[in-house]
Amino acid sequence: MIQSSFQVPSGFYWGTATSSQQVEGNNTNNNWWQWENEPGRIKQGHKAGLACDWWGGRWREDFDRAADSYQNAHRLSIEWSRVQPKPDIWDEQAFDHYRQMLSGLRQRGITPFVTLHHFSDPLWFMEMGGWENTDAPQIFAKYVTKTIESLKEYTSLWCTINEPNVYTSFAYVVGAFPPGKHDINAAFRVMTNMIRAHALAYHIIHNLQPESRVGIAIHHIDFHPLRSWFPLDTLVTNIYAGAINNAFTNTLVDGTLRFVVMRASIPEARGTQDYLGLNYYTREYVRFNPAKAGELFGERTFARNADLSDGGFTANEPDGFYNAIHWATRYGLPIIIAENGIECADDHIRPRYIIQHIHQMMRSMQEGIPIQGYFHWSLVDNFEWERGWTQRFGLWELDNITQERRKRKSADLFTAICKNGTLTHEMVSQFAPEVFNLLK
Ligand code: BGC
Repeated sequence: MIQSSFQVPSGFYWGTATSSQQVEGNNTNNNWWQWENEPGRIKQGHKAGLACDWWGGRWREDFDRAADSYQNAHRLSIEWSRVQPKPDIWDEQAFDHYRQMLSGLRQRGITPFVTLHHFSDPLWFMEMGGWENTDAPQIFAKYVTKTIESLKEYTSLWCTINEPNVYTSFAYVVGAFPPGKHDINAAFRVMTNMIRAHALAYHIIHNLQPESRVGIAIHHIDFHPLRSWFPLDTLVTNIYAGAINNAFTNTLVDGTLRFVVMRASIPEARGTQDYLGLNYYTREYVRFNPAKAGELFGERTFARNADLSDGGFTANEPDGFYNAIHWATRYGLPIIIAENGIECADDHIRPRYIIQHIHQMMRSMQEGIPIQGYFHWSLVDNFEWERGWTQRFGLWELDNITQERRKRKSADLFTAICKNGTLTHEMVSQFAPEVFNLLK
């Protein structure tokens, strides 16, 4: 049964997370714009279009929604292709736009948590080879330097690169993100360059802003062997956990990138995290399958009776969140939950997902784990990458044609949690009574 007495410490960040390409609209100078214009790349041929029209000014009404629901922090990203439209051109108007947005957050009592790279890249950068280019870290560093100089007045909480593990696997192995490659060697080069870029950015940001706090956000999947008695399932599970969950964050500790059988020495990456940014969505079971050489002989599924989202994209596995948080403690850093959420247009599963996950977070905090914030993905429905508009992650529903927003009941639940800094019996009975007995 739920313990309602636990209260998060004051200063805890309660917020939502978004990213530039997913909410701004009209980002025509990046690789996602090019990608969505290639037939067959995005589900149902969807396009980001106006997205949530934040570039057109609707950030104001959405930030009002966040503030009215007692959120005191918001994670958003800067669109590199806007502020640096060409290698030697800076767009001061774009910086002004971000200055307005960041000061708009502050005026509403919301601390900005700013990501510098969230999946999208400028077209010119991709034409130079993108993250495969050995100069990518220096090119990124130039953008980081200018951006921090321009925006440091508004925040000191930075995330250099969002989910480099998802970026490298989706763009260079699975092929679902641009540039759509299936090349493990290229993926390894990209991983190496992203870590070098992160390390450079970490030092640049600290030099420009000594009080800054800098990290990455890592996507963590709670992997388990499907058949715990079968050693090959365990072996493949460990390979997956190593490659997807551990490779980046371990390199930031010891300076050696280990990815399956590949190795790279990146000594400058040692000690370049001030917090561990954890993005958790689900748990997966892995079985050995000799026919899946391209996927390292693994086949991934959800538990047989899992509580699945519409379309079966995410399983509601709160125990996996507890495990993920415990995994994160190995780095000895404060933890920020930088993303957690589920897609559900009719909002039937989200209230219990939120309650069960926040319950596991509070359970971990009660055990003494230093978690400093929770950012729900997401504030308003937004453009879901290769899944287009087919998936809805928002606390608010968005009609992306009319730009109308409609509050889901999960928004009221999250408001109550942010306002009270706790989870109560009343909230569970009002929003998800079906999980009372599952809260342990
Ligand atoms: C990404 C978000 C995305 C979310 C839901 C995360 O991996 O960082 O950009 O919208 O998953 O798919």
